[in-house]
Formats: sequence, C-alpha cells, structure tokens
Amino acid sequence: MVGTLYGIGVGPGDPELLTVKAVKVLGKVAHVFAAASSKNDYSLALDIVRDHLRPDVPVDQLAFPMTFNPDRLEDAWQANCERVVEVLKRGKNVAFLTLGDPLTFSTFIYLMRKIHQRLPDASIRTVPGITSFQAAAASANVPLAEGEESFTIISGAKGGSRLKEVIDVSDNVVLMKTYKHFPQILAQIEEAGLKDRCCFVSRCGLNGEIVERNFERLLEIEQPNYLSLMIIKKHGLE
Ligand SMILES: C[S@@+](CC[C@H](N)C(=O)[O-])C[C@H]1O[C@@H](n2cnc3c(N)ncnc32)[C@H](O)[C@@H]1O
Repeated sequence: MVGTLYGIGVGPGDPELLTVKAVKVLGKVAHVFAAASSKNDYSLALDIVRDHLRPDVPVDQLAFPMTFNPDRLEDAWQANCERVVEVLKRGKNVAFLTLGDPLTFSTFIYLMRKIHQRLPDASIRTVPGITSFQAAAASANVPLAEGEESFTIISGAKGGSRLKEVIDVSDNVVLMKTYKHFPQILAQIEEAGLKDRCCFVSRCGLNGEIVERNFERLLEIEQPNYLSLMIIKKHGLE
C-alpha cells in the first residue's frame, strides 16, 4: 500500500492562522516536506508549523528554483517528486507544506500532478489554507468583493501589463508576486487611474508587516519583500 500525500496550506505567516485540520494532519503524518527557495534554503512554511510537528518526524526541504527556465524547473520538480515517491512507496503518509493555500499559486500543484502521474494509485488530499490575500484584506480592513462585484487574482511575476485588461472587466483585483517588477506595476496602476484605489500589503502577519494606501509612499519602495501584494478596487477603497 502506498501512503497518502497531504497538501497542507499553512496560511500566510501568522501561526494562529493555521487551521485545526492542518494541525491534526501534521500530528499524524510520518514525513514532512516543505518547499525551500534554492537561493536561501529557508522555509517559512516550516517555521509556521514547527510547534505542531512530532519531535521524531523527519522533515525534508525541497529546493524549487525561482526561475522561468522550463528545463531547470522540470529537473527540479522531477527530482523533488522522486524524493516524495520514495517515502510514499514505503507506505508512509506524507505532508507537503504550502504557504497560504495549496491550490493557489503553489508548488503543491506541480507536485500533485507529478505524483499522480508517477503513482496513480496514491491518495492525494488537500487541506486548504487561508490565502495571503485573505489575510492581507483582513489586515487592511479592505473588502475583497461585496454585493454583485467580481474579483480577479493575477500574478505580477512578469509585470503589471495584464492589469489594464483585467480591471476593465473586474471590480476588484489582487496582484500577487509584486516584488520583482514593482516600479513597473506602480506605473501601470497610475496609468489606469487607480493610484488612490489600491492598498499594498507586505509580510502580512509577520515581523515588518506593511499596510500602505498612500501611493506617494509606495513610490519610495524600490523592491518590496517577496511576500508582497496589491489589492486594487476599481470603485475605491472606502
Ligand atoms: C508563490 S505565491 C504563494 C501564494 C499562496 N499559496 C497563497 O495562497 O497566498 C507567493 C506570493 O504570495 C503572496 N504572499 C504570500 N504570503 C504573503 C504575506 N505574508 N504577505 C503578503 N503577501 C504574501 C505574495 O504576493 C507572494 O509573492
């Protein structure tokens, strides 16, 4: 019998935003994997759950390179998949930790697909987590959507060029992964006439949290922390 793979959402940073279900599963699994940036080998997801892991449970960090190079990514996902497969094949239940929610812009999505191809009989269960944008909206007391409004989530990893097309058809937009192209994203927001309708949230629930609605102050930030996003409301923040 192969083990079960659990994709566990650990929330965006504040350990109190871990769900009861995640804590229960973490207390039972035989092996824990967490994604680590190949640059610094550090897993925030692991830090969030550390108090809930059994002292004897093996914990492995899997390096996922931060690159768009498809060959490098494919090699990394394949190698990481094999490490998880090896444990599942021993009949052990395994948890893979994800910041926020496992099915929202997460490495778990790739791992889940690869494990399914490699071990079609393995059971895969996802434990949802509070997303970064839900926690950010709470920190800023900014509604994500109300009444009949629509709400769209986009990635800013390649810049903010999609913002204009999206804001045309959506009342509310969350732009994630703003760190790399921040000045360009701010320029797109200004061009779309939205500079007094956005709220920036960085390191939500963590040391150094920033919640900033003042666009002029945002212009002073050259490159924000990796854990940063923008909430944009077409009809205004209030
Ligand atoms: C790879 S995505 C992970 C998203 C995550 N799965 C979720 O459900 O929120 C990483 C992006 O999530 C956002 N993010 C994650 N944690 C955050 C935090 N504590 N504060 C602000 N943004 C955060 C940032 O936009 C960051 O670039």
